[in-house]
Amino acid sequence: MEIRKLIDKLNENKTLGKDEWIYLFGNYTDEDRAYAADTARKLSLEKFENKIFIRGIVEFSNICKNDCLYCGIRRSNSCAQRYRLDEDDIMECCAEGYETGYRTFVLQSGEDGAWGAERLAKLVCRIKESYPDCAVTLSVGELEYDEYKLLRDAGADRYLLRHETANKEHYGKLHPAEMSFEHRMNCLRQLKELGYQTGAGIMVGSPFQTHECLADDMLFFADFKPQMIGIGPFLPHKDTPFRGEPKGSYELTLMLLSLCRIMLPNLLLPATTALGTINPRGREEGVLAGANVVMPNLSPTAVRKKYMLYDNKICTEDSTTECRHCLQARMKSIGYEVSISRGDYSE
Ligand code: SAM
Ligand code: FES
Repeated sequence: MEIRKLIDKLNENKTLGKDEWIYLFGNYTDEDRAYAADTARKLSLEKFENKIFIRGIVEFSNICKNDCLYCGIRRSNSCAQRYRLDEDDIMECCAEGYETGYRTFVLQSGEDGAWGAERLAKLVCRIKESYPDCAVTLSVGELEYDEYKLLRDAGADRYLLRHETANKEHYGKLHPAEMSFEHRMNCLRQLKELGYQTGAGIMVGSPFQTHECLADDMLFFADFKPQMIGIGPFLPHKDTPFRGEPKGSYELTLMLLSLCRIMLPNLLLPATTALGTINPRGREEGVLAGANVVMPNLSPTAVRKKYMLYDNKICTEDSTTECRHCLQARMKSIGYEVSISRGDYSE
């Protein structure tokens, strides 16, 4: 079957069958990818015009109790220099972010026991009181229902929790036995039920990923309908068990961004830092392939190098203001504008 016809079918029906997905991933050409990007870009321009939402991300702790095999801040990485910001440090990042035009703060960390849900909920209240016109997104991993509820009641608007892979067997190859695929998937369902704008997502080209895994991911997205999808290439980190594994494909990442946009046209879809790391024009090309969000760093420059999930992560030398202006110029160079707004999900 012609791939273009499958792309048109996806655009029309908003899903494909598992075999069709597998066929598509195994057979698309560069021309098909350009066709998917054109289709996706038209959809995002229709919905969002040429506006790109920015989210300021504060990486507030790299201390993590988990041991995901791919991740540079896994607990077994004894080379990682650990740090933890406190409430005042984080408020300072937000103040600088607000000043430079951010209206969404993303708080991300490892699963750090010292930053439990109660402490975090107090911080969320403080941010929402200081910046009532801003959205707060959390990305602090797997918690229990009551903890997610506490944080939602404290005012958190959105939650990012990549499912990493919708294929249970594949999940088992990326994570130690003590981590549970069912628990992670259940967390996502709870987050959505609690009314968070919820983000799932994957790393493209993670070790052992097959076209069948990707088909499972697309079927999961079609069914779960997340409001946000985080997709970036897998990039190896030198102090993890996957140090020798090849990085994910840049082109496949762009193709997946386009397919996600076509399938879920209203999606908040970031051109990720990993995409900007694998290719210097990754974030621009991500936007041209259908992305509509960028997430520059708001963390203090002093800690940026320590939140090293993979080797050679970009923007670790730059300040909040530098990243803000750099991104604005990058978006302008392709005819897009940074929007100073919360940029909530809407149907
Ligand atoms: N602890 C939280 C969690 O588990 O969701 C948030 C932080 S976690 C480091 C954020 C994301 O980084 C993960 O969901 C994963 O997809 C991504 N990541 C980790 N290691 C990576 C690598 N080597 N290459 C690309 N992305 C990676
Ligand atoms: Fe950080 Fe370009 S976005 S330097």
